[in-house]
Amino acid sequence: MDMPDTPGNIAEKTVAKTVAKTVAKTVAIRAEGLTKGFGEGETYTRAVSDVSFEAYHGEILFVVGPSGSGKTTMLSMVSGILRPDAGRVSIEGQDIWSLSTDQLAHFRLNTIGFVFQDFHLFPRLTTAENVAIPLIIKRHPWDEAMSEARRFLEIVGLANRADVPPVKLSGGEQQRVAIARALIAQPDLLVLDEPTASLDGDTGRNIISFVRNQVLNDKRCILIITHDSRIFEFADRILNMEDGRVTGIADGGSHVAHEGV
Ligand SMILES: Nc1ncnc2c1ncn2[C@@H]1O[C@H](COP(=O)(O)OP(=O)(O)O)[C@@H](O)[C@H]1O
Ligand SMILES: [Mg+2]
Repeated sequence: MDMPDTPGNIAEKTVAKTVAKTVAKTVAIRAEGLTKGFGEGETYTRAVSDVSFEAYHGEILFVVGPSGSGKTTMLSMVSGILRPDAGRVSIEGQDIWSLSTDQLAHFRLNTIGFVFQDFHLFPRLTTAENVAIPLIIKRHPWDEAMSEARRFLEIVGLANRADVPPVKLSGGEQQRVAIARALIAQPDLLVLDEPTASLDGDTGRNIISFVRNQVLNDKRCILIITHDSRIFEFADRILNMEDGRVTGIADGGSHVAHEGV
C-alpha cells in the first residue's frame, strides 16, 4: 500500500513525479518514415505518409485526428500488426519489422498489448478464458493461466464476471476485459484504439483514468487513439494526424480539439 497522504508526503510525490518526467525521458518507441498505402492503380490510397515520432517510457501519448486520417493504420504498423511499405519501428531498441514472422509474433506476445476498437472478444469463451488467451498461447499451464486471468479481472474490477460470456457485459465492462487481456502478459507497450468511442462520458473517463492511475508505470508506454476531447486531460502529449501525416505534437491539456472532430 501507498503511504498515507500528508502534505509533506504529497509534496514529495509531486517533486518525484516532476523529476521523473523531466529526467527519465527514455525512448520506448521510435517510428521513422512510416508509410503505408492500400489498393492498386486507380484504387490506391496512401493511408500513412512518412510518419516519424518518438514515445517515452512512463507516458501516455494520444494520437488524434479526423476519421480516416491514418491513426489505426499507423499504430498497427507500430504494434507489429501491419507491415509498413516503408519506414522503421523500433521498440525497446528492437527493429521489429526486421524480425521473422515467428520472431515478431513472439515479440508481440511478450512486449505489446493491443486493445482493438471493437474489443475482439470471443463470444463462446467465458470472460476469464478470453483474458487467459495470451498465456494459453504462451503455453502456460491452463490452471495457472486461468488463475492469472482471474487476478487481472480483479485488477480491472470484474472478478465477479469471470465465468459469464462477454455478451452479458456492458460496453464499458467489455472494454475492461479487453484491457485485462492486453495486460496479462505484462506488456511494455499498450495500444488502445478508440477505447471510449462506444462509451458514455463517465464510463470513458473512468476507464482512461484507470489506465492512467493503475496501468501506467515508469517502464510502460501507452498509446491511445481517440478523438474524444473529454479525455484529453489524461494525455501527457497529443500527436495530431491529418491525411496520413503528423501535423504536430502538443502537451496534453494545452491541446485544443479540432473543430468538428
Ligand atoms: N485494410 C484497408 N484496405 C483499404 N483501405 C484501408 C484499409 N485500412 C485503412 N484504409 C484506408 O486508409 C485510410 C486511413 O484509415 P485508418 O487508418 O483506419 O484511419 P483512422 O483510424 O484515422 O480512422 C482511410 O482512407 C481508409 O479507408
Ligand atoms: Mg481508426
